[in-house]
Order: sequence, then structure tokens, then C-alpha cells
Amino acid sequence: MSARLAAPGYHLKGVRRGRASPEAGIMKIFLDTASLAEIREAATLGVVDGITTNPSLLAKEKGDPEEILVEICKTIDGPISGEVVATDAEGMVREGRHLASLHKNIVVKCPCTTEGLKATKVLTAEGKRVNMTLIFSAPQALLAAKAGARFVSPFVGRLDDIATPGMELVSDIIQIFDHYDFDCEVLAASLRGPMHVLEAARMGADIGTMPTSVFQALVKHPLTDIGLKKFLDDWEKTKATLVAKAAR
Ligand code: G3P
Repeated sequence: MSARLAAPGYHLKGVRRGRASPEAGIMKIFLDTASLAEIREAATLGVVDGITTNPSLLAKEKGDPEEILVEICKTIDGPISGEVVATDAEGMVREGRHLASLHKNIVVKCPCTTEGLKATKVLTAEGKRVNMTLIFSAPQALLAAKAGARFVSPFVGRLDDIATPGMELVSDIIQIFDHYDFDCEVLAASLRGPMHVLEAARMGADIGTMPTSVFQALVKHPLTDIGLKKFLDDWEKTKATLVAKAAR
């Protein structure tokens, strides 16, 4: 083994640490929205593990962004990303500290810039969780993980938009992280349809974040609807009721 590979803090492993932990047994589903109505509705299904927001999503909602973030945290007990808007490290750290003080569930989202990396180093040293966002290359993800980011967010759809296969980026990051012991989860973001979610799960992404419309599309299948209708039509012919029997 080379000295570089054996450097302290890094261990050659076939499986990254996140996957070995019991809660990492299945890809987590995050919603990419700041709409409280959508989040409250989706929460009733019990399968939403967290929320990602960004300045654009919060700007679409009526009300104070900080109050919205706190309400989201009260609705979903999982990581809730709130993004800094400063562009210098000092400002990002100040905003990140403030965001993290709003609720224990808040994860500070910092953009993957030089200043964002500096801020990530400071914030994570203080024990705050950082989601490094706007990741468009594997080296960016590597640097984010080294800076201590708890999550990296490769933007799949936005790469697809410029004729670059976004899913290949997710795959590259997973492959790289699999070699090491980073405590950093791969959060496949900018997922635009069910196929993106399927591909992310096939690759073993830790998390997929998606708009509510994509989340709802995951449930739907026309054969389920047709099958259910037939079951119910056939059952109707028996004139039996399940509830009456169950009550006896
Ligand atoms: O999670 C990142 C997301 O908000 C970006 O999605 O569809 O605007 O590229 P999109």
C-alpha cells in the first residue's frame, strides 16, 4: 500500500462507512421544496427522511424564510438544509452559525467555492453539519468531503441540461468515497424524474432529493390502478365486508 493511501485519516475500504451504519440500509428520500403544504402532506406517508431548500425555493414561498425553516424542522425530524447567501467565508460562517442555531435539524448548505470550503472547515470544526451544494465535478466532492462536509450535493439535472451525463458524476463520487472513510453522504440532487431516482438508488447514493412532483410520480403506476379497480370490482360481487368480520 502506498504511503499516500495509508495516510492517517484515510483507510482503504471496499465499503464506505456510511453504508455500514444501520440507518444507511436504504436510500433516504429528501424533498427538495420549501412549501410547508407539500411537506406536511408528504410527511403523512412516513417515508420522507429530510428536506433540502435553497434560496430560490424559499423565495417562492410567502412568509419569513427563517420561520419557514423552523416549521419545516418541526414537521420532518431529519436533516433540513438551509443555505447561506453570503459569498465570503466570514459571512458564510456567520450565516451558517445563525442557521444552525434556529433548530437542531438544520444542516448548513454552503456552495462549493473556495470561500465555501473555508467556511465548511470552520463550521464543521464547530460540530455543525454542512451540505456542500452546487457540486458539478468529482474533485469538488472530494474537496468538500476533506473539508468535513457531512453531505455533498451533485446536481444531476443541471448537468443533463448542458448535455453532460449528471448520473455519471454521482457514480464517480460514490466510487471515490467507497475507497475512503469520509463521514460524508452522497446526496443526489436536482433529480428531475423517477428515472433519476432509480439510477441514484442503483448506484447506491445515500440520499436522493427531489421535487414533490417527482416524489408523487414514484408511487404511481397505471397497472396498480387497473389492478386495484379489478380487485375491487370482483370483491363487490361477493357482497362481503371485511370490517364486519374483523369486528366479531
Ligand atoms: O437540490 C438542488 C435543486 O434545488 C436544484 O434542482 O431542478 O433547480 O436543478 P433544479
